[in-house]
Amino acid sequence: MQDAFGRSFAYLRLSVTDVCNFSCQYCLPDGFQKKPGPKFLSLDEIRRLATAFAALGLWKIRITGGEPTLRRDFTDIVRTLRAVKGVKTLATTTNGYKLRDNAQKWRAAGLDAINVSVDSFDPQVFHRVTGHDRLIEVLEGIEACLDAGYEAVKINAVLLKGINDQALDSYLEFVSNRAVSIRFIELMRTGDNEAYFNKYHVPAATIAEQLQQKGWVRKTREPGAGPALEYVHPDHLGRIGLIAPYSKDFCASCNRLRMSARGDLHLCLFSEKGVSLRHLLQSDDQQHQLQEFIQGSLTTKRVSHFLHDGHSGGTAKLADIGG
Ligand code: 5AD
Ligand code: SF4
Repeated sequence: MQDAFGRSFAYLRLSVTDVCNFSCQYCLPDGFQKKPGPKFLSLDEIRRLATAFAALGLWKIRITGGEPTLRRDFTDIVRTLRAVKGVKTLATTTNGYKLRDNAQKWRAAGLDAINVSVDSFDPQVFHRVTGHDRLIEVLEGIEACLDAGYEAVKINAVLLKGINDQALDSYLEFVSNRAVSIRFIELMRTGDNEAYFNKYHVPAATIAEQLQQKGWVRKTREPGAGPALEYVHPDHLGRIGLIAPYSKDFCASCNRLRMSARGDLHLCLFSEKGVSLRHLLQSDDQQHQLQEFIQGSLTTKRVSHFLHDGHSGGTAKLADIGG
């Protein structure tokens, strides 16, 4: 499946809930507020969606939210997606809240890879950023994933001026003897976080400079790789990746599509609004129409997010669409 700019799509980010129990300053500073609207996708709808996308050639699915593991049927979602023909890699992104007690169970259900958000290794700073004093439990969850034999364990850290941009050493220490990749994500401006963005945004290049000074070397990009620029160091088992959505070539390597928890297809994280697929998810007989509809929508994907023009698109906060 290709768009008008020759980009092909391997990867679906599938949100299964908007609900989150954390209140990260940049995402849900006042905590989750319930909104009216259609129900979240059911297990059957999720299966039909994934079947269609996989038939169109997508082979990697990341389950996102909100906080996806708050779904009571999260393990069933994993099992259902695992059983879809053509899905090679199944991943999720979580705040790690339930990880310690479930890492093993989810791995057994078919989850291959996991990203956990850790915006600081300082318990107090972690508490301040997320609203929850849970760093220790989250880190125990990460160890549980390493023990459970996940194919990839990654840590997401949103880069925040004065909060973690000078704390690189704590991340480097963590990956010195653990096969964990850190992803520093440049803070993105969304509809809701403008003032916060202006105060805390710091370009990923500041981390790149620090890494180079410490002898980290940029890996050459593999074809089909996502948007992270990866760095390695001979004395460290883990890797560091930088995700810089404001850099000029970011959109050229876009290989992903997004589904909201309420069944809207988003061609870009920053697209004005999604297009609902829900009417085509109601029976197994609609597969053909569903696939045609998705392919047709893809022809309207734009070349870039145009964030450079101060445009923040239609996404109020990333919890609405899964980051
Ligand atoms: N900018 C960058 N990253 C964000 N995330 C949530 N909101 C933002 C934002 N405005 C991150 C979370 C999580 C991932 C899904 O997206 O911290 O790691
Ligand atoms: Fe929840 Fe993730 Fe948003 Fe934090 S960033 S409030 S964990 S959805």
